[in-house]
Amino acid sequence: MPFSDYRTALVTGASSGIGAAIVARLSQEGIKVHALARGADKLAELSRQTGCVVHAVDVADLEQLTAAVAGLDIDILVNNAGVDRPGSILSADAAGIDALIDVNLRAVLQLTRLLVPGMVARDRGHVINISSIAGAYNFAGNTTYHATKAAVSMLSRNLRQDVFGKRVRVTEICPGRVATDIFAHVHGDPDASYRKYIEGFELPRAQDIADAIAFAIAAPIAMNVGHMEITPTLQVPGGLQTTRPQST
Ligand SMILES: NC(=O)c1ccc[n+]([C@@H]2O[C@H](COP(=O)([O-])OP(=O)(O)OC[C@H]3O[C@@H](n4cnc5c(N)ncnc54)[C@H](OP(=O)(O)O)[C@@H]3O)[C@@H](O)[C@H]2O)c1
Repeated sequence: MPFSDYRTALVTGASSGIGAAIVARLSQEGIKVHALARGADKLAELSRQTGCVVHAVDVADLEQLTAAVAGLDIDILVNNAGVDRPGSILSADAAGIDALIDVNLRAVLQLTRLLVPGMVARDRGHVINISSIAGAYNFAGNTTYHATKAAVSMLSRNLRQDVFGKRVRVTEICPGRVATDIFAHVHGDPDASYRKYIEGFELPRAQDIADAIAFAIAAPIAMNVGHMEITPTLQVPGGLQTTRPQST
């Protein structure tokens, strides 16, 4: 069981949802988990519950990020922090595009650059990238989000080439809708978001995603789980639209 081979993990976006569940799951396995997010209070509470080491850091701030991970030998890197803004590229604002690229993509690339060479040198490591079905399918809306998640997907595939020959595994977790507060964070109005995106649906919970990640990590070291698409049973991507020219 490779869990016994690994000692340390770093999880971004640990103050909420899927990230917090991953911190709890890995801590249960005896891993020393470094939990990273901006929300210091939520991280402190998570630390009380799990014993994780907290880093109140904005992943979009390269100086802060670099200082936070300096000197750490990390065996399991979970790139989970993510933000979204609703709407197509036609109505996007400049700051929103920058925020999504900074958090969803730039930070993932920078952390990979900072931590994966150490894994390669130690011949031991596992990178888990949380993308989204938005990176694999076009289903309208949130166009910048789709673009950043598609980039994370390709990064995950190419990273396998970069570490080839070493026992460094790469797993892309590609969730569909999961019952977390992300919808409230994106759309505001927690009650309305809950009613629209969660209430009455049968959805995977954050813990279910954490359990899937634990499966990939616990797999024999000879086995790399490269990609897991995890959607609600009652959610399916796809569809085709055809229209005549729209009159103005
Ligand atoms: N829930 C879903 O339906 C779903 C579906 C597909 C993919 N995903 C992906 O799964 C991942 C986790 O999503 P979630 O549902 O758990 O969302 P969430 O509850 O909104 O959590 C997002 C996390 O990212 C952190 N974060 C955001 N900006 C940050 C920054 N600048 N620096 C550091 N941390 C930052 C937040 O912490 P702070 O605000 O405290 O910094 C929070 O801990 C994301 O990558 C998301 O795109 C989610």
